[in-house]
Amino acid sequence: MQDNQILENIRDNELARNHEYSQLLCDILRSRARGKSPMALVRTYGCQQNVADSERLKGMLAEMGCEFTDDENDADIIIFNTCAVREHAEDRVFGNVGALKSIKRRHPSLIIALCGCMMEQEHIAQRIYKSFSFVSLVFGTHEIHRFPKLLYDTVTTGRRIVARGEDDGKIHEGLPIVRDGTFKGWLPIMYGCNNFCTYCIVPYVRGRERSRDPNMIMSEARGMISAGYKDITLLGQNVNSYGKTLEREKTFASLLTDIAEIDGDFRLRFMTSHPKDLSNELIDVIASSDKICNHIHLPLQSGSDRILKLMNRHYDRKRYMEIVEYAKKKIPNISLTSDIIVGFPGETYEDFQETLNLIREVGFTSLFTFIFSPRVGTPAAEMDDPVPYEEKSKWFSELLKVQEEIAAKRCESMVGERYRVLVESAKPDGELTSRTEENIIVEFKGSPRLIGTFQNVEITRARNWILKGKLA
Ligand code: SAH
Ligand code: SF4
Ligand code: F3S
Repeated sequence: MQDNQILENIRDNELARNHEYSQLLCDILRSRARGKSPMALVRTYGCQQNVADSERLKGMLAEMGCEFTDDENDADIIIFNTCAVREHAEDRVFGNVGALKSIKRRHPSLIIALCGCMMEQEHIAQRIYKSFSFVSLVFGTHEIHRFPKLLYDTVTTGRRIVARGEDDGKIHEGLPIVRDGTFKGWLPIMYGCNNFCTYCIVPYVRGRERSRDPNMIMSEARGMISAGYKDITLLGQNVNSYGKTLEREKTFASLLTDIAEIDGDFRLRFMTSHPKDLSNELIDVIASSDKICNHIHLPLQSGSDRILKLMNRHYDRKRYMEIVEYAKKKIPNISLTSDIIVGFPGETYEDFQETLNLIREVGFTSLFTFIFSPRVGTPAAEMDDPVPYEEKSKWFSELLKVQEEIAAKRCESMVGERYRVLVESAKPDGELTSRTEENIIVEFKGSPRLIGTFQNVEITRARNWILKGKLA
């Protein structure tokens, strides 16, 4: 107990210092701004984990008196929060940072900072530092909580700063948050990853797995629900291993139950679920709660046992299908989505056909599909990879075609039924876009006033994987 109190104090001191730097920056940034208030642009690449981090960066920027813009030309400070998961993600960042050079030339007071997963790779941070002399600040995923101090140091000294700390295994609670959405929101429940799938850079750039204290999560969840959030997604690289690092162990299923019991009209989602740690208890909890969406994002990656072993995924086809069958038995309308990697080193066309067979057998609602991208420092980048990219692209197209047919069939089967949807936005043609709890998009005619509310719609038509409906 006493130790906890000391920890709390340390945390409070750090937060207080952060707050002091933010206060000092208020005046500094205002005096450098071109308009009345300093304008900040935070652009996020990559997954929801990065989105959640950016919301904390925005919270700190708001404390410094910043307002926000999407236009690089209006900004006094630009932050790119980067992703390292595939080469394509990195190339986009390099291209977009390069394009800032001319803006910096026109507005020399502009502060450009780069953070996120790419910056945790030594060779990338070096390349950024050398190639882009107009970037003032580079900081990694373990340094986000120190952002006010780092920004203060670079603006007051005029020196370029690269801050890439060790993973201290801590969770820095209490940072202010400015969320992107007003009714859909992200709630991180854990950070890092211990799984070391052989293709994946995430464990190297995000550090070891650590779970947030359940009380912190509950209080953030209560805050979001009372602020009107209707769709909350719990985030972690593998939510099914939530709680393992806590002093008093807690399962993900029990955390989910606690959050679902909070009063209010809201939906709960979570991602990502690693099949190796998914428990029947979790499926039972989903089945028994109206608030927990009947949707599981359960990345398969490959349907070939040989490839799954090379990927270090710790499950096989049989185990994956056991989960799927139990979920379908307990939750007949369960919606399953997945991630698939095509062209892992050594994968043959026969292995790929096994993936296609499994995809057909499961009947996923939708898939995120990727062609294997070698990541420096991961075991798979060193493996023999004889299949040419053009061949992998052909397999990829075949996969997309198979999935399109499956999704179209699933959508067809929903015609004539009623669904409760959350209205998300209005399209230029006047229709509203909404989502079912299965995470399927339904478009229907209605007033933009309905955005952010739950409505009942009747599905009238399926157009590939998008449904058309009318207010019921
Ligand atoms: N923690 C999540 C995945 C996070 S990364 C999980 O385990 O499911 C998101 C997806 O990117 C992965 O599921 C995988 O399909 C894909 N991915 C990761 N590394 C990749 C690589 N090197 N090449 C291609 N796709 C990759
Ligand atoms: Fe990457 Fe595997 Fe961890 Fe997911 S579970 S983040 S794929 S190492
Ligand atoms: Fe990308 Fe980092 Fe997420 S590498 S996928 S932003 S954890």
